[in-house]
Amino acid sequence: MFKKSLIAVAAASMLTLTACGGTGSAAGTAGTDKITMGFAQVGAESGWRTANTKSVQESAKKAGVDLKFSDAQQKQENQIKAIRSYIQQKVDVIAFSPVVESGWDTVLKEAKTANIPVILTDRAVDSSDKTLYKTFLGSDFVEEGKKAGDWVVEDSKSASDTVNIVEIQGTTGSAPANDRKEGFEEAIKANPKLKIIASQSGDFTRSGGKQVMEAFLKNNPDIDVVFAHNDDEGLGAIEAIEAAGKVPGKDIKIVTIDAVKDGMTALSNGKINFIVECSPMLGDQLMDLAKKVLAGESVPERVVTEETTFTQEQAKQVLASRPY
Ligand code: AHR
Repeated sequence: MFKKSLIAVAAASMLTLTACGGTGSAAGTAGTDKITMGFAQVGAESGWRTANTKSVQESAKKAGVDLKFSDAQQKQENQIKAIRSYIQQKVDVIAFSPVVESGWDTVLKEAKTANIPVILTDRAVDSSDKTLYKTFLGSDFVEEGKKAGDWVVEDSKSASDTVNIVEIQGTTGSAPANDRKEGFEEAIKANPKLKIIASQSGDFTRSGGKQVMEAFLKNNPDIDVVFAHNDDEGLGAIEAIEAAGKVPGKDIKIVTIDAVKDGMTALSNGKINFIVECSPMLGDQLMDLAKKVLAGESVPERVVTEETTFTQEQAKQVLASRPY
């Protein structure tokens, strides 16, 4: 019992020490034992991102974490600037969702030298030095791409002709764009009739999806399927398809990833055919991991988010209860 309390006191004082800067991370809230987290968000490009920001902000509040938040407007240089400013402010922990996968080693080394632990959330970096961050919390994007591809394989198994697929990729160089492409391509190898005839980035935005789809429609009279890397791009594609006088979900089938409210509404209205879920609700797990890291507890190298998929029928059933 006594031993247990001693451990608890030791753990608590370790947390306080770290939070107040005892290991070189003098907290912005010096004098209190509140954890200060610097969070460098990608931007506000999609419904998913808005829900993710809300989740992080609400969870920080609930967990009593003092959150410093920045929006990089989808630019890596802005994110690097934000991280450097968090290092200067001596926050206790930095969390960020990297806009793109490469180019992070220098700034991550600066955080390490300043003794500030880093947690990756949502997206990965391609750094070979795994000591530059404590853990990575987020989805398995390759798996998401595979699930999307598996649906196309199943849906077109009786096709007698080539099935022409166009792909609207996410932000060039980002982990979800790279991995979803990889997973999707892997899955559709199962049927040689499935062909990606065009592939371009819509930068994970609705306007980007619309623009790319307009160009695809102009250059390819015979499109059967759209694979959009997120709901917003798919929603933009719907606008372009309707403007071209075609019926989304029927003349051209649409598969997307995310399952945010607008996407799920289009799915239940028959304009999208299938959605692979990517959960933005990472806030609670992030706060938990941050507390553990700062208490010196071990955390898994990788925490994978649990996710499902939705057909049109399933979307109708759950739409009213979707939290985002
Ligand atoms: O990194 C997650 C992806 O980024 C989501 O699928 C997309 O909507 C967002 O912009």
